[in-house]
Amino acid sequence: MLHLKRFVRRFRRLPRSDHRFDYLSDKQYAALKFWDKEIDNFIAWYNGEISEHYQSPAPSEAAKVKDYDQRLNAIWTWVRRDSSKYPNALRIRRDHFVGKTVLDIGCGPIPYLLAFEDCQLIGLDNLVNEYREVGYPLDEYSPRLKYVAAPGEQIPLPTSSVDAVISVNAIDHVDKFATTAREVIRVLKPDGIVRMQIHYHNPTLTEPWKLDDAVVLQSFAPLGLNKIHEEPYTGNTVMTVWST
Ligand SMILES: C[S@@+](CC[C@H](N)C(=O)[O-])C[C@H]1O[C@@H](n2cnc3c(N)ncnc32)[C@H](O)[C@@H]1O
Repeated sequence: MLHLKRFVRRFRRLPRSDHRFDYLSDKQYAALKFWDKEIDNFIAWYNGEISEHYQSPAPSEAAKVKDYDQRLNAIWTWVRRDSSKYPNALRIRRDHFVGKTVLDIGCGPIPYLLAFEDCQLIGLDNLVNEYREVGYPLDEYSPRLKYVAAPGEQIPLPTSSVDAVISVNAIDHVDKFATTAREVIRVLKPDGIVRMQIHYHNPTLTEPWKLDDAVVLQSFAPLGLNKIHEEPYTGNTVMTVWST
């Protein structure tokens, strides 16, 4: 019976072109393919075939990294441009975490958290190994950024070990929201800082949670979070920012 269930599940999966990743769930595979396709977008942006990518104008010749092959040149040029994505998303200054250890839940393959100055950074994502496999140079970005390949539901860090937890457009992507919240609370030091950008929307394959204020407040109740910002986002969805 168990074998039959597995067989049926296998043939219900999304069609896949990249068999290196057959072991991933549909949700993980879809997220990975988004970021794999982003490399093509970075290359088109680098080559000036698109004039901008997420409002960043295509780079000048002087701004282009030219030390590697085309893929890596494009990724490095994207990474090295001055990005304020995370400070803007979280509504904090770049020096907000000076001297602290900061954990980013669902960090993705681009080291946007390096915008935060003079702090130690841990990027946690369950696709870290696969991002390396498709060509993101995660281990070369910076000595102050360490990547951890693990789910937010099971953070391989000791209790009360980080000064701050951040998350940008990612905590609505996890498989188990309440479990991830418990893990965030566990690894955070007493009086630690939490800053999260949380997207409210109808569930999708890669964003399975329909969140609202009540769910966020209840899941993170011991931290007494405050919603510090809310704005309309694409397709009648809402983007919120939460803080300790
Ligand atoms: C939309 S991306 C955001 C990445 C990054 N924060 C940014 O703003 O560029 C969402 C990320 O959440 C990650 N993710 C999804 N489920 C996860 C889980 N259970 N544990 C850890 N990361 C997860 C995905 O792999 C993906 O990298």
